[in-house]
Amino acid sequence: MIELQDIHKRYGKPNSAPEQVVTALDGISLSVKAGEVFGIIGHSGAGKSTLLRVLNLLERPDSGSLRVAGQDLLSLNDAQLRSARQRIGMIFQHFNLLGSRTVAENVAWPLRIANWPTEQIAPRVNELLARVGLADQGHKYPAQLSGGQKQRVGIARALATGPELLLCDEATSALDPQTTRAILDLLAQLNRELGLAIVLITHEMDVVRRICDRVAVLEAGKVVEIGAVAEVFLHPQHVVTRRFVQEAEKIDENDLNEDYAHVPGRLLRLTFQGERTYEPLLGEVARRSGIDFGILHGRIDRIKSTPYGQLTIAVTGGDLAGAQALLAERGVRVEVLR
Ligand SMILES: Nc1ncnc2c1ncn2[C@@H]1O[C@H](COP(=O)(O)OP(=O)(O)OP(=O)(O)O)[C@@H](O)[C@H]1O
Ligand SMILES: [Mg+2]
Repeated sequence: MIELQDIHKRYGKPNSAPEQVVTALDGISLSVKAGEVFGIIGHSGAGKSTLLRVLNLLERPDSGSLRVAGQDLLSLNDAQLRSARQRIGMIFQHFNLLGSRTVAENVAWPLRIANWPTEQIAPRVNELLARVGLADQGHKYPAQLSGGQKQRVGIARALATGPELLLCDEATSALDPQTTRAILDLLAQLNRELGLAIVLITHEMDVVRRICDRVAVLEAGKVVEIGAVAEVFLHPQHVVTRRFVQEAEKIDENDLNEDYAHVPGRLLRLTFQGERTYEPLLGEVARRSGIDFGILHGRIDRIKSTPYGQLTIAVTGGDLAGAQALLAERGVRVEVLR
């Protein structure tokens, strides 16, 4: 669906002083498959919005190559680009609705621009509004809607021309946690039912964990980590990624290290994934290897629809190597922390 290679984008006039030039994208390569939900996470200024806007050429890169939905966007003329953009929808943090137009007129807007026959527009708008849970709200004005409802209008408008790809720029950042979940669930449903590929940018790992299949971590215009969400979330490699995960888990590694300083024994971190998460493995391993263990920290949650658990335990006595082997045999990832 998307194939980016070595994309660079600088802001600043060609002959301005080096300190006035901002390198927003510094050699980005990545690909997104059809039907995939792909997250891009990064701090403020990392280049997320710039990258998203490159994907529909609202922003032209200085160099690099860019294929979206089977087309080399950089080679298209204006008319071709307009038609290519009908296959790429976009939603925004602040919804970007036209306040002087009704909900129905907002959703109809891209259809009018695409010269749809007038008699087909109203039925299409009704279908779209029903899909996003706003049937019979078409007569209202944006100011009469809640933030969550406004974003639903934004989504209906983005889907109007039947795109294969939806770009989301911090689409839930202006919403409360409950509304955020509802909108993310709607996006996940559209992904499943329409096979819509979604690229969403965010600064919250929770958003990534809830609906993304893969994620790229952006820092200073570069991809510093990329992979399946479960892998990146459970085994973050880069310091920036680790900080995002710790924020999402509301833990502070330094605090924990201090807390554990006085705990005797070896410290292990165990990671369970899938249905295994709910099995009574630890008790069995302790009995068979004669170890004693205390649980220092733990959580059980889901990444998209896959359950996972991560436990930090202190182990004393018994056959530690044997216990590690038994755990590994059962598909539990074991890391020795101390
Ligand atoms: N039109 C522009 N002109 C000049 N500099 C820009 C422009 N747009 C972005 N930048 C700069 O490029 C860098 C990346 O900006 P970008 O908006 O892509 O970051 P972001 O990751 O989306 O941040 P945020 O989370 O705050 O939205 C920043 O240093 C920003 O100041
Ligand atoms: Mg941004």
